[in-house]
Amino acid sequence: MKEFLKVAVDIAREAGAILREGFERPKTITYKGEVDLVTESDRRSEELVVSRLKKHFPDHGIVAEEGSGATARTRYCWHVDPLDGTTNFAHGYPCFAVSIGLVEDGKSIVGVVFNPVANELFTAVRGEGAFLNEERIRVSPVEKLANSLVATGFPTHLRKKSSNMEYYWQFTLRTHGVRRDGSAALDLCSVACGRFDAYWEFGLSSWDTAAGVLLVEEAGGTVSDLTGQPYHLGGPSLISSNGRIHVELQEVAASIAARVAKD
Ligand code: IPD
Ligand code: CA
Ligand code: CA
Repeated sequence: MKEFLKVAVDIAREAGAILREGFERPKTITYKGEVDLVTESDRRSEELVVSRLKKHFPDHGIVAEEGSGATARTRYCWHVDPLDGTTNFAHGYPCFAVSIGLVEDGKSIVGVVFNPVANELFTAVRGEGAFLNEERIRVSPVEKLANSLVATGFPTHLRKKSSNMEYYWQFTLRTHGVRRDGSAALDLCSVACGRFDAYWEFGLSSWDTAAGVLLVEEAGGTVSDLTGQPYHLGGPSLISSNGRIHVELQEVAASIAARVAKD
């Protein structure tokens, strides 16, 4: 497993350098949907990550956001977001990352998220803890939702159908605040290192979360779906927290879901 982690870290750093360089230049933006942006850097980063993974692990599957993966029925599959936070990147807001997760039997076993602007490298291997720049990290000690700082996101492809505004509003009333940073992978890392006490979102893809969920779990936190059932990669909802406020979070989410269903 150490070898998988080492390779993933080297690749994430290399891809991060591509993003860092692209961030300083004028961006070429195209659209995958109404407001779903893609830049040249998404593609260049993905090319690098996928080609390196194929070279090191020719028998592994790869699922990558921009479609250049190599999916096969294999024991190991890498889930890659070559640039998580594209909208931030395109607008010059320095909050984005490359996210690489290795999954075995539906469970993440290695996770690497690299923010090249802050030079923050988040890493985890199942059973071996979570780290930020090689220092052990743990979730926050906050005991109550009322004392928490939480985060969410709004998937670009579900913008008109999303009921998340209601959750955003209700959690704003019950916490110190709700942040919307625009990078799911970094939001999960922020829960892992205790900057956020919780993070939820609907409609995430496996490449957004494969690395981050392992970071949260290995940092002592909890990840589930909105109803408290186990979260499956690519599932319709995800809530993650420091564990201590998880039940409260779930109860509030359940009451909002019941109200939204009636409307
Ligand atoms: C997006 C970001 C954003 C989240 C969206 C994701 P992308 O990923 O993680 O924070 O709210 O759901 O799709 O498109 O920048 O890779
Ligand atoms: Ca993403
Ligand atoms: Ca992306």
